[in-house]
Amino acid sequence: MRLNIACIEGDGIGPEIVAEARKVLDKVALVYGHEMIYTNILMGGASIDVHGVPLTEEAIAAAKAADAVLMGSIGGDTITSPWYKLPPNLRPEAGLLGIRKALNLFANLRPAVLYDELADACPLKKEISSAGFDMMIMRELTGGLYFGERHTTEENGVRKAVDTLTYDENEIRRIAIKGFEIAMKRKKKVTSVDKANVLDSSRLWRKVVEEVAQNYPDVTLEHMLVDNCAMQLVKDPAQFDVILTENMFGDILSDEASMVTGSIGMLASASLNDSKFGLYEPSHGSAPDIAGKGIANPIATILSAAMMLRFSFDLDKEADAVENAVKNILKKGYRTIDIMSKGCTQVGCKEMGDLLADEIN
Ligand code: IPM
Ligand code: MG
Repeated sequence: MRLNIACIEGDGIGPEIVAEARKVLDKVALVYGHEMIYTNILMGGASIDVHGVPLTEEAIAAAKAADAVLMGSIGGDTITSPWYKLPPNLRPEAGLLGIRKALNLFANLRPAVLYDELADACPLKKEISSAGFDMMIMRELTGGLYFGERHTTEENGVRKAVDTLTYDENEIRRIAIKGFEIAMKRKKKVTSVDKANVLDSSRLWRKVVEEVAQNYPDVTLEHMLVDNCAMQLVKDPAQFDVILTENMFGDILSDEASMVTGSIGMLASASLNDSKFGLYEPSHGSAPDIAGKGIANPIATILSAAMMLRFSFDLDKEADAVENAVKNILKKGYRTIDIMSKGCTQVGCKEMGDLLADEIN
């Protein structure tokens, strides 16, 4: 099979981790008889440096022409980087929001898994973490507060800022359907998270999710208020299978869930539209403080590449091979610095990529 992949290396550690993901994909191609065709796209700070804007029309066209996009990470140090002297709509993050919207990537899948081998990294008490957890956060990605109208004004010397939170039922229904579909392939439980005791948008969310649930009688649906969910994630993370929620709640809860695993360098993500097309990126940021040092953990990006094989190309066997390689290498005791523990062998970004590529055969 020919896999047309657009690569956004991005900023900070982005280029290093994408290089290792490509190394692993190339090995998959070799072993399973596929052809990988890569096109590089500039986005974020890297695009600002060349074009003055974080995302160009050409970049969007190149992404659309590919079957899937593999991304590293974008953004820099918000205090020291000149990118953050620019107006907000020209900063690196605007590129990411822009490409999500342009490609209609409304469904964001963020798995948070506690790996047995990394259980010690979990910051929760043993009696809680020993139950293990494996959840999928499904975040609506192109609506809500992050895409609503906003403005800042000053009236009679008083500054005022407005952001608006809007959802229509179609936006809610399509992410809900994705959520239930994913749940059918997992433990068949959906926890829909909202703030229906206060917000109209949440009350509509709840109604539409219940309508969609009618078509999935095998899936157990529960509703949870977002503030309670934030507590439950640290109190009893094992209770969750699929968490289905709107854009801002998902942004916040997915960071919390990743922190609870204690190993954010391991967490992948996929952003999908209605077709097989998707953008795949690690859940972590661009870590400008360690960029170029060769110590970044490439595993989250490599696991994102595995999600790409699974969701955009239906190559389940190949995706399994990559995920098993990660488990085996952890079992053999290899760790990058962020997940290092006593008795293990510390390796750099490149070595980790080499080990994982070697493990696929
Ligand atoms: C994320 C990030 C982005 C978001 C930022 C960089 C715009 O926090 O992917 O979670 O809020 O969606
Ligand atoms: Mg975030």
